[in-house]
Amino acid sequence: MKIALVGVGGMGGVHFNVYRNMTDIEFVAACDVRLDMLKEKVGDYPIRLYADMDEMLEAEKPDMVDLCTPTYMHVEQAIKAMEFGCHVLSEKPMALKTEDCEVLLAAIKRTGKRYMTAQVVRFMNAYKYLRGVIESGKYGKLESLHMKRVSPTPRWSWDNWFLDEKRSGHVALDMMIHDVDYMQSVFGEPKAITGVYHPMQGNLSNYAFANYIYDGFVVAIEGGWYNDEKLPFMATFKAVFENGNVILGADAQLRDCGVPVEFDKVESVGETGINISNVDGYAGEIKYFIECIRRGEPNSLVTDESAKATITLVERTLASLTRV
Ligand SMILES: NC(=O)c1ccc[n+]([C@@H]2O[C@H](COP(=O)([O-])OP(=O)(O)OC[C@H]3O[C@@H](n4cnc5c(N)ncnc54)[C@H](O)[C@@H]3O)[C@@H](O)[C@H]2O)c1
Repeated sequence: MKIALVGVGGMGGVHFNVYRNMTDIEFVAACDVRLDMLKEKVGDYPIRLYADMDEMLEAEKPDMVDLCTPTYMHVEQAIKAMEFGCHVLSEKPMALKTEDCEVLLAAIKRTGKRYMTAQVVRFMNAYKYLRGVIESGKYGKLESLHMKRVSPTPRWSWDNWFLDEKRSGHVALDMMIHDVDYMQSVFGEPKAITGVYHPMQGNLSNYAFANYIYDGFVVAIEGGWYNDEKLPFMATFKAVFENGNVILGADAQLRDCGVPVEFDKVESVGETGINISNVDGYAGEIKYFIECIRRGEPNSLVTDESAKATITLVERTLASLTRV
């Protein structure tokens, strides 16, 4: 299978390192408008490099394209690649708006190509473990789940696109979406949403505290970009059940009722240099999607409808929170 990568900035670098370590694919090409940066990043790894996606598609005719470009480009590039005949893995979020998701879903149907939004948290060991505890009922009823994902305000992106709400969707579509997506995939739609949202203003912090009310339990999600360059990236959760708890600490250690949970060592995707706490999900999501293509099966772990439902739930969240 011939694979080509588009956008090799922070997240594209992580995906690049997954592909370069895979032996059962042909990683043929990568493309980035910053060709000099790309050349430097790729070093002597034998791959063809382009500054333009169209040129790369024409020259390489890949079977699969992986989009790690800024959020506002995802839908247009995914449709273009599918119309060209490629399967598409796209970084999250699927789109900036539900209506754009619908345009994308129509194109997926029309072209018959495989597509997956890379909602990586669904593939991360700690979150898969928590899902298992919830679904098995081993500690009884869930009472509360508190999820948190915070980082310094991102000032490092290409063209500073993260700080432009129209291009990134700010913290809601960049950070909170991971936890909203996980929650939605495990519990479905909440009955009600309350909390506060602080839009990005002069001080360049942008955060939300949202409480999602379900029958008999609550999920509280904090997503934040804070104006503090020393703040370490943190992705944590605390799930409290009738008879136990499962906690992912700020040290990225998962504990089940205080007992550390260890996972098989995953292959490293190298130093990422970006805001992610662990790398286990990235190789997992990529390999899973490739397997779906090989088997000719639709992906059932992040269905297109489910990725769209997450965008709609983020929109509902923003409409429900009190602005502070
Ligand atoms: N899953 C995760 O944990 C995670 C983490 C970070 C970012 N992301 C997502 O990944 C995407 C990229 O984010 P990032 O942090 O890598 O941003 P970035 O700015 O670091 O990288 C984007 C790259 O795309 C390149 N680019 C811009 N326009 C292009 C074009 N037309 N064709 C080819 N390349 C182009 C830029 O030069 C840059 O290198 C975003 O959608 C973001 O939400 C996901």
